[in-house]
Amino acid sequence: MTAQPQSAETKNVRALVVANWKMNKVTKEAIDFVEKLNAAWDRLRGVDVVVAPAFPLIGSVARRLKDPFGLAAQNVHSSASGAFTGEVSAKMLVDVGCEFVLVGHSERRVAQGTTHAYGIGESDDEVGRKLKSAQSAGLVPILCVGEQLVERDRGETEARLNAQLAAALDGVSIASSRELVIAYEPVWAIGTGKNATPEQAEKAHHYIRARLADRFGAAIAAHLRILYGGSVKPDNVVEIGRCPDVNGALVGGASLDVEAFVAIGEGIARARERKG
Ligand code: PGA
Repeated sequence: MTAQPQSAETKNVRALVVANWKMNKVTKEAIDFVEKLNAAWDRLRGVDVVVAPAFPLIGSVARRLKDPFGLAAQNVHSSASGAFTGEVSAKMLVDVGCEFVLVGHSERRVAQGTTHAYGIGESDDEVGRKLKSAQSAGLVPILCVGEQLVERDRGETEARLNAQLAAALDGVSIASSRELVIAYEPVWAIGTGKNATPEQAEKAHHYIRARLADRFGAAIAAHLRILYGGSVKPDNVVEIGRCPDVNGALVGGASLDVEAFVAIGEGIARARERKG
């Protein structure tokens, strides 16, 4: 029988907003952002906040980011160490102050010659290896999953999500809901200005939570944070954040501007107040 997550508890999960800067900002801009974010802590009491800078900025951000804000990396290698020129291990990320790491972002999954010009082509299995490598170093993986537009059009959204979750979470166990974060990011909504409707987001999030309940049990699944990502902006975040199974947002473009990002954090907190 399929385990059912406890929806009443799902509502009480503390929301999380993550700023994914991607390949943007230099040190001066990163510091400016962090100082303004620190100054806005009072407005962000209602949510957990994590910043994911590019590798060279992590040290500068780590030295300035105030508690309780968290730090994430955008990528990690699947091996613990070795001859992997240009790569970064999970242990190195912990060493410079990261607590979280994105794994399986769609910009890294897509293959060359498809929608993305530079196509790294990370497979579902490789994403799984990265997730385990992150976990074993004590990082909290933020696992990104999401369907391409053609998959949605063919009615294959759930099959795609299931395949990505199964490959990434195979053999993974967690003792608490704080050891893993999932981000649902429909690929067609990333950087396009075309966000999923609340109905589309809720359907996907609900499906993901049910699969997490199958894997980790209903009690843990009810408290796991499932973030929505894809063209989240201050003016659409409340609507999406009100969906019962949406526990926060992974923000790309709009996270580059500190005022927009803080407004998104406030929006998520406001959306949650209306949920109950
Ligand atoms: P976007 O990116 O907010 O610019 O659509 C989201 C993401 O890729 O994480």
